[in-house]
Amino acid sequence: MNNLADTLGRPMRSLRLSVTDRCDLRCRYCMPEEEYVWLPRESILEYEELATLVDVFTGFGVERVRLTGGEPLLRRDLDVLVRTLAEKPGVRDLAMTTNGLQLARYAEPLQRAGLRRVTVSLDTLREERFEYLTGRPRFDAVMEGIRASLSVGFDAVKINAVVMRGFNDDELCDMVEFGRESGVEVRFIEYMDVGGATTWKADTVVTRVEMLQSIGRRFGRVEPCERTDSAPADRFRLPDGTIFGIISSTSEPFCASCDRSRLTADGQWYTCLYAAKGVDLKTPLRSGANARELSEIIASVWKNRADRGAEERLNVSDRTAFVPVSALKGDSRLEMHTRGG
Ligand code: GTP
Ligand code: 5AD
Ligand code: SF4
Repeated sequence: MNNLADTLGRPMRSLRLSVTDRCDLRCRYCMPEEEYVWLPRESILEYEELATLVDVFTGFGVERVRLTGGEPLLRRDLDVLVRTLAEKPGVRDLAMTTNGLQLARYAEPLQRAGLRRVTVSLDTLREERFEYLTGRPRFDAVMEGIRASLSVGFDAVKINAVVMRGFNDDELCDMVEFGRESGVEVRFIEYMDVGGATTWKADTVVTRVEMLQSIGRRFGRVEPCERTDSAPADRFRLPDGTIFGIISSTSEPFCASCDRSRLTADGQWYTCLYAAKGVDLKTPLRSGANARELSEIIASVWKNRADRGAEERLNVSDRTAFVPVSALKGDSRLEMHTRGG
């Protein structure tokens, strides 16, 4: 295995594969517009092409693959891709982040195909808030999807909740309780100013410190769990043993240990969530580049990688949305939903 380190000594271990840029919800913090320009159909990588690229990445020590979107379950026959990836010895961890709308139908076939872990985005437990936040009255479908995931035997089912002041910050304790009762691990995510979050404002961010205070007031002493990996979430334990996580990408970024990169559905490779430009892997792949040639491209980029996108944002004064709407309209790959969250 070719163990590659970037300029900050960070290895490459995790790959986020966006399998489609489309989504069937319109979350205010991610896709606030009703209409978007989608990636052209013919530019979307086929499953065989994705599998070829994953082989090249695992050659560098990438062992965790996460399927993302848009909404990954909008891609047809996703279980076929899952089976192919799950059979690869280099892929030790195969997970998916989904909005959960179609999970009731797909949890079982995906689990049978070899998907190990599922994370569902759910920011509120109140139906009317869900509809306001996502633009669609589909709360029940997501809850059904979560229940289905819990029943089919995944190694882990998690919930991602983006916390926004004045919107759902009064639900932190309810969500912790929901996690305890249902057996899912809830992770609270600080609202990020990434592309797509066009209405982001600094004062709507609820920081990790504030979340811990609010949860501690209700449940008592909150103990940090020991870290075992470079995952973005810090995990905490309550006196009764309940575990929850916080992803503090905005107030306390974790760029120093960032071992991840992301591939858009049309084969553009981004080494940072905040990167302005990606590296085109689709063109060489479709012009017949072999694994060694693709490896050379990837190695040369990773060796020079110096990304610390979220940390750099800390130095911006009067911080507003990272990418203005006009720029998003000119390059859809700046959108969070295109680069896979
Ligand atoms: P686990 O493997 O279960 O820990 O999943 P994960 O947390 O890596 O993936 P998930 O898709 O659940 O992402 C959770 C949140 O972390 C999302 O809000 C992402 O925006 C944020 N996140 C994921 N990757 C990155 C990253 O590379 N940089 C930053 N700053 N945030 C990220
Ligand atoms: N801030 C924080 N998290 C976000 N996500 C999407 N947009 C944002 C944002 N502006 C999350 C989704 C999903 C994950 C992939 O990224 O909720 O769980
Ligand atoms: Fe990694 Fe960039 Fe996210 Fe920092 S902001 S954790 S470098 S992807």
